[in-house]
Amino acid sequence: MINSRRNTDSKLAVVALSLLAFMAAGSAGAKAISKTSAKPSTAVNAIPHLVQTDGKYALMVDGAPFLVLGGQANNSSNYTGALSKVWPAIKDMHANTLTMPVSWEQVEPVEGKFDFSFVDTLVKEARENNVRLVILWFGTWKNTGPSYTPSWVKLDNKRFPRLTNKDGTTSYALSPLYESTREADKRAYVELVKHIKAIDGDRHTVIMLQPENEVGVYRTARDYSPKADALMAQPVPQALLTRYKKSPGNWNQVFGKDADEYFHAWSIARYVDDIVAAGDAVYPLPTYVNAALKDPLNPDQTPGSYASGGPVYSVIDVWKVAAPHIEFLAPDLYSPGSKSYEATLSQYARADNPLYVAESGNKPIYARYLFSALGRQGIGFDPFGFDYTGYANYPLGAKVFDADAVKPFATLYKLFGGMDREWAKLSYESQVWGVSEPDDHSAQSLDLGRAWSAKVTYRQWQFGLPEWDPENQNGYPDGSDVPSGGVAVAKLSDNEFLVAGLNARITFDTGEANKARGFVLDRVEQGHFEGGKWVMEYVWNGDQTDYGLNFTGAPVILKVRLGTYEK
Ligand code: DGJ
Repeated sequence: MINSRRNTDSKLAVVALSLLAFMAAGSAGAKAISKTSAKPSTAVNAIPHLVQTDGKYALMVDGAPFLVLGGQANNSSNYTGALSKVWPAIKDMHANTLTMPVSWEQVEPVEGKFDFSFVDTLVKEARENNVRLVILWFGTWKNTGPSYTPSWVKLDNKRFPRLTNKDGTTSYALSPLYESTREADKRAYVELVKHIKAIDGDRHTVIMLQPENEVGVYRTARDYSPKADALMAQPVPQALLTRYKKSPGNWNQVFGKDADEYFHAWSIARYVDDIVAAGDAVYPLPTYVNAALKDPLNPDQTPGSYASGGPVYSVIDVWKVAAPHIEFLAPDLYSPGSKSYEATLSQYARADNPLYVAESGNKPIYARYLFSALGRQGIGFDPFGFDYTGYANYPLGAKVFDADAVKPFATLYKLFGGMDREWAKLSYESQVWGVSEPDDHSAQSLDLGRAWSAKVTYRQWQFGLPEWDPENQNGYPDGSDVPSGGVAVAKLSDNEFLVAGLNARITFDTGEANKARGFVLDRVEQGHFEGGKWVMEYVWNGDQTDYGLNFTGAPVILKVRLGTYEK
């Protein structure tokens, strides 16, 4: 049956129609992000939650904004026997959060019999290691396939059907159109959420959940089974028509060449949203769905050559309408080029979607992008493959993953780790900027508003100006051929900024409003935060400020006061 494409059997059409009510729901005018409110709960015992004001977001943990400086363990590190090799990497990294999968096959190997002993150990050891947890639910989809479903699911294609490719062959991936699959996945997910609530509802070690992992399908745009075809012939749900400003019609009539992908995205998003809604009814932790990306610089890529139906940038709106219980959609970034990386960040940092880097490669060149993510008001950064199990996912990540591979990330997390709460608060309540070194090391301008401006340059010595050495006789600082720099700036008051950087120079100047006046760096303090208070260590002046503020490879935070005088 699965292989007989375009079967017009009326019984199938009836089954498809009975799915309609479920399929057509979506947000239909509801708030885009149902658990996100503008009013943060500052009660320390509030469940972790997301807040949003004017398109700015904060992840509230224990009553205050929290910046996730995370590390994600390898896929197979989700067993008690591997944990002793995970914690040392997380510690070396200075991460405040570990992201760890919990899989369906692991918790429900026999249908209806649940075993959460790994979750118990994970939560207990996370507390001992003083880190929070993000738990990834490997269910119906893991990198689009069902490899993490229990044997009683993945071997039973009758009860849990795979989708049908366009040529009528059976795909490797499960179809999102079967209640049997959705209900089974949902039951296991809800049991997991119940368990987390029971052991952690008063502690909030677990701060977020990622339902499923890289949903979608490769090699086909959607399910082409008769059941799917029958649904494709039905009217597009009103909420989606409204979002896309389209007139009524069936999927092909409304969306033309995009119809197959939009339909598949809608079907998966409705499926995952239904699971999340059931989990929320028990314990409404923030949830996000990660995306195996479409090339941000090649709009001609066809669905199926990337994960069709997953929340790639061009279907974010479909997901927003179909999945109102999912707080945000988050990119998995494995293309190291700065143009591509930045393009993806800008696609996911939206007024209706906080930026969260769900995964990123663990090669040193990826570390600097934390600055770019923070500059786009990111709420977290969670590179992949951080444990000492001996596994290295080269060429996506580092060739050898050891303590040396952790260092570039550790330096950055040290820099922001001492002010993660302060940064997250400023990012939500004030204004932040951030840039990372482009591949060509070119200079960048920061638009700090009407009063001030700033320029960030790379490959500079701490002393002097490049024009003193036009032939570049002195060369560049060691190692600076590989981009590693970046700067992040947060506004403390009209004239005062917090500045953190690595391997970069920042020079401030007047902005449009102050153009007629002379510029001075009024005061530059190096310091750190203790208990939420700024502690000054010493004041920078003279050589340390005459040629811009120069950051080396050592983590340094500055508090900078800018001033002007009448000329
Ligand atoms: C993205 C997936 O989400 C991860 O689980 C992992 O498989 C990486 N790709 C590759 O190492």
